[in-house]
Amino acid sequence: RTVYVITATYPRPEQEADLVRLSQTLMHAAPFLFWVVVEDAPQRTPVVTELLERSGLRYVHLVAEVPELALPRPRFWGRVPRGVASRNTGLSWVRSHATAGVVYFADDDNSYDIRIFTEVAPSPQSSLSIPWCSPQIQKTRGVSVFPVGLVTELGVSSPVVVGGQVTDFYDGWHGGRRFPIDMAGFAVSVTLLKQRPNATMPYRAGYEEDGFLKELGVTREDLQPLADECSQILVWHTRTEKVAPIRSADLNKFQGSNIVALMD
Ligand code: UGA
Ligand code: MN
Repeated sequence: RTVYVITATYPRPEQEADLVRLSQTLMHAAPFLFWVVVEDAPQRTPVVTELLERSGLRYVHLVAEVPELALPRPRFWGRVPRGVASRNTGLSWVRSHATAGVVYFADDDNSYDIRIFTEVAPSPQSSLSIPWCSPQIQKTRGVSVFPVGLVTELGVSSPVVVGGQVTDFYDGWHGGRRFPIDMAGFAVSVTLLKQRPNATMPYRAGYEEDGFLKELGVTREDLQPLADECSQILVWHTRTEKVAPIRSADLNKFQGSNIVALMD
């Protein structure tokens, strides 16, 4: 079963670093993955195209700029929702190109354990008894859910699972949501996506996941807990620190040196 990993990304100084890290994580699970990279930009960024080519992954590289006038991004508490146009563009690409499989939204700056995507054998060199972890996301029937580390002041966001059933949600911010789940904490089967062809992510900061899951028509009882009944953290909501605006030095001083190439 193919996992369609939809990644919203946008050009900025940290983009290449974040995408190198993510691509080299995904490379460990390459046979099972198809990477749908959607840039929030007027055109494809060449370093991203090159990185995708080098990765050897199956991928598609799309752009999804939100035309500010045609579609003003509704604000919520002064926050603009991020990556929504990209994810919706990715969803329609998957609906029209995939026949089966699973969709997962992987933001470019999070940290992913490859066991979320693929089976990992214990190292033969290891003397510890490390449990074999079977592929998580590929088990998704309708909507699967799992914990996300390093998110909100509680440090983890997770469904509460009792006897194999999701009974509640442990999350630092409920905000009246029916599904207080982080973007990185769920996956959806392609079959369900196609059964709900109009389900999209709303342009509403903080409510993107909840709005999308509601449109998929699932109930709490339908949610399938993964990662050993949500007892393991396999993804972390890490954030890349922004660098100060990059100043360009007087390149004349560096003519004939490597520095000119670095600044290119
Ligand atoms: C949190 C959630 O984890 C996101 O899933 C959610 O989209 C976001 O808040 C939001 O609603 O604002 P956070 O780490 O705060 O994420 O945000 P970013 O990592 O900066 O952005 C989320 C994704 O959107 C990233 O993959 C980023 O590359 C992308 N993005 C960000 C864009 O495509 N365009 C932008 O202008 C900014
Ligand atoms: Mn992030």
